[in-house]
Amino acid sequence: MDKRIFILSLIASAGLAASAETINISTPATSLIVRADRGAEPELLYYGARLADADVDAVVSTAKAHPAYPVYGMRTQSETALSVRHADGNMALRPLVTSVSRDSVDGLPVTTVHMRDQIYPVEVNLNYRTYPGTDVIDTWVDVVNGEKGELVLDRYASGYLPVRRGDVWVSHLYGSWANEGRLMQEPLQPGIKRIKNNDGARNSHTAHAEIMLSLDGRPNELHGPTIGAALCYGGNYRIDIDTDDSEYHHLIAGINEANSAYHMRRGETFTTPPLALTYSDEGTSGVSRNFHRWGRKYKLAHGDRERKILLNSWEGVYFDINEPGMTAMIDDIASMGGELFVMDDGWFGGKYQRNSDNAALGDWTVDTRKLPGGVPALVSAADKRGIKFGIWIEPEMTNTVSELYEKHPDWVVCPPGRDPLTGRGGTQLVLDMSNPEVQDFVVKVVDDLMTENPGIDYIKWDANMGIQNHGSLYLPADRQSHLYIDWHRGLEDVCRRIRAKYPDLTIQACASGGGRANWGVLPYFDEFWVSDNTDALQRVYMQWGTSYFFPAIAMASHISAAPNHQTFRTIPLKYRIDVAMSGRLGMEIQPRNMTDEEKDLCRRAIARYKEIRPVVQFGDLYRLQSPYDGRGVASLMYVADDKDEAVFYWYKTEEFVNQHLPRVRMAGLDPDKTYRITELNRVDNTPLDCEGLTFSGKYLMDNGLEIPYTHDLDYHKLNDYASRVLRLEAVR
Ligand code: DGJ
Repeated sequence: MDKRIFILSLIASAGLAASAETINISTPATSLIVRADRGAEPELLYYGARLADADVDAVVSTAKAHPAYPVYGMRTQSETALSVRHADGNMALRPLVTSVSRDSVDGLPVTTVHMRDQIYPVEVNLNYRTYPGTDVIDTWVDVVNGEKGELVLDRYASGYLPVRRGDVWVSHLYGSWANEGRLMQEPLQPGIKRIKNNDGARNSHTAHAEIMLSLDGRPNELHGPTIGAALCYGGNYRIDIDTDDSEYHHLIAGINEANSAYHMRRGETFTTPPLALTYSDEGTSGVSRNFHRWGRKYKLAHGDRERKILLNSWEGVYFDINEPGMTAMIDDIASMGGELFVMDDGWFGGKYQRNSDNAALGDWTVDTRKLPGGVPALVSAADKRGIKFGIWIEPEMTNTVSELYEKHPDWVVCPPGRDPLTGRGGTQLVLDMSNPEVQDFVVKVVDDLMTENPGIDYIKWDANMGIQNHGSLYLPADRQSHLYIDWHRGLEDVCRRIRAKYPDLTIQACASGGGRANWGVLPYFDEFWVSDNTDALQRVYMQWGTSYFFPAIAMASHISAAPNHQTFRTIPLKYRIDVAMSGRLGMEIQPRNMTDEEKDLCRRAIARYKEIRPVVQFGDLYRLQSPYDGRGVASLMYVADDKDEAVFYWYKTEEFVNQHLPRVRMAGLDPDKTYRITELNRVDNTPLDCEGLTFSGKYLMDNGLEIPYTHDLDYHKLNDYASRVLRLEAVR
């Protein structure tokens, strides 16, 4: 293994007893130091910038030691990551180190600190994994019950990290449906800062399971020591940062244990989801780049494969699906240079038709009244035009008005003995994914579709309801508190089975918009729908926040109609295109309602996006000017790995006459390279002053370019929006 890229070493520290062991887990730019002396509790000594070998010893002898994984019972006064009830009612646990092992699991190096309780046969294994070529270390825990009776887990977090107090700020995302991914940045104050989710099925509409900690004051996008933490889990989570009376903030993150006591039989192992940690001294954008690189390389499905440019039918026709309409959309997107057409909701149903959101979920047979040629006719229409075909499903759900529910009323999440509360359309229900029969059914939904239509290239997998009533008709009475966890295990199993059989399929995670943006589900999905809100101005804010933790390649971003269907705001097409082009570009519009001039602009944008796609989808993100700073402009850029190419985005976020907007300095370029500037999607009558000119990377990073506040348009086309996309190419 290349030592420069990855070094994992176990070194025996000088001066410690033979059973003493210092674990030094390093990535190219970070180190994590744990002391794991046999017979003692493991201690976390350090996490941060990579330590020189000479400093490791100094850290070991001077660092303030914290428990590597605080456990309840013999440490009752501080927050703990694990708390259990033994079969005899005893609530104390004190796992002590028995050994340290180093393995390669799926090709990734894993260091495990094995522990066993001082008295009870309960084992706790604390794992650390590195990802070669990235600065991410993830940690998780396995609890093994060796007791004769049941061990109950009341709290079972994935990991703990002490962070030295000072002026530490937390960045996290909040929001709600149609307003996901809002960025919040606040200083940590005494008390507990809790970020959590209780949806049951999806977990990122409101808060997000990822945070950043800026260690040296107010977050800066380009500078300053910053820690990132992402809980890789699709279900209910809880992230606590406890600022107690000590010199430290205490970060504990894991599954939300509320209403989820977990009962373990003898011999059973409970494995927590991983908590991914990263560190950068290049500020919040630096941490984002770490997560993005790691995500593309190791987590996201097909993170190394360019995404197709698509048209999705939803905002264009909603439930009004019919064969001529779909074929026309296929024609339109193909004629604009698109590569994929996705038929959204409304294509299925037998006894009950899917004409609105209140019927037929679960009845996944094509509605031949709408589509006489079925899906094959559409796949072949797409094929004839040289593009691919995709389809929408929502397989974890049903409606009370459906043949599925009539046949299997016991398959839904529902408290035994009660009528379930319904969701969307007044009739929607969540299927009980803890039930293996339901899991088989969901796998079969995809399997049948793919067997009948092997030409399907893309699935939009939606989930429009959370768990609103607690109860499983499958789980026994003494396992009802397992519902949230077993539901997600069921979903993950289903995803694994589908991925094993259909490894090449592109699958989008949609959940009423951005409800499933998390690193727990993304290994099974290629991308997620950022939000049901496609308003370009609001997207500037939502995509900014979402980009903190997720790469552009995963962020589906579509050009939609004006006025926008969610905000009713009228934004010029140029601005809508420029915003969509900063993510995975797509369209969500009825092309028949567009003028030829508009179609032409889209055609040109699609052609240009194909040229810059590798930089946007695989490049490094530098956020330059935050829309949240209220300075009237937002700006970001992507830079290719070799720094030969970059794409710069500039969006005006408000319009006042004679307002003074900041001149935005670029970042991430090679100071010694010379870059030629080309504006993309130009609508102005005259080119920019910098068009076609060359500038050194140093100049662009020291000064930026002067961007005009308005567009030079004919009078009747003038409007209150302005945006620019500039391509930078290194010249030799
Ligand atoms: C919610 C999704 O977020 C939308 O994009 C669309 O697919 C609808 N569901 C369809 O019902």
